Amino acid sequence: MGIFTSEKRNLIVILQKKLMKIKTASFVISNTDISKCPQDGKPEYAFIGRSNVGKSSLINMLTNNKKLAKTSGKPGKTQLINHFIINDEWYLVDLPGYGYAKSSKTNRAEWEKFIVKYLTKREELVNVFVLIDSRLEPQKIDLEFMNWCGEKQIPFSMVFTKIDKLSSSLLQKNLAKYKKEMLKQWESLPPVYTTSSESKFGRERLLNYIEQINLAIEEQS
Ligand code: GTP
Ligand code: MG
Repeated sequence: MGIFTSEKRNLIVILQKKLMKIKTASFVISNTDISKCPQDGKPEYAFIGRSNVGKSSLINMLTNNKKLAKTSGKPGKTQLINHFIINDEWYLVDLPGYGYAKSSKTNRAEWEKFIVKYLTKREELVNVFVLIDSRLEPQKIDLEFMNWCGEKQIPFSMVFTKIDKLSSSLLQKNLAKYKKEMLKQWESLPPVYTTSSESKFGRERLLNYIEQINLAIEEQS
């Protein structure tokens, strides 16, 4: 006799079937020019947020490959638009962070230009994951960025990162503060995810979300 009842076992089989498998994940191209991004029309999911929030680490966590996207303890590591092809079907896109105090004004202006162009003009971009450090109080720069996405009608979801670094009660408190702050500007909240690249918490939910969007796109075409 095993630990599981047959009902539980069936449920586990169903859940396993539902989880999207990452069969292949590889780097394709880095650039600052959207005309040089891949032209095959496959859907893409971009990761954005303050420098050091954990964008590159999250891409590695989702793909189970610690070396795919370059990460660093120092902010400002990712400088370009980086495309990674997944299962030969869709892209994860790693972007440079915003709000890096040490970058020069010219650098920041450049960031604005090519990222704004990427976010507003790239037709293949189906969802932006806005990463937010779960340890912090709501930050003006993140709220402003999400408002800007709203104005430009860029679909986004909120992803709280590094949840391994705080207690679950503090996490709940911080999430509640964020939601309250967002609801001052928005009628409803976008999808909200909590993640840890250390413990891999949140991996299944995020991958399932991507899978649902991919399926919806396939059905439309
Ligand atoms: P830029 O490319 O500079 O904009 O940064 P980024 O947002 O890509 O952050 P990156 O993934 O390079 O991670 C920054 C630092 O945070 C690294 O030292 C990571 O190891 C650490 N880090 C990222 N995610 C997590 C997490 O979920 N938990 C913990 N404990 N550390 C994390
Ligand atoms: Mg990075």
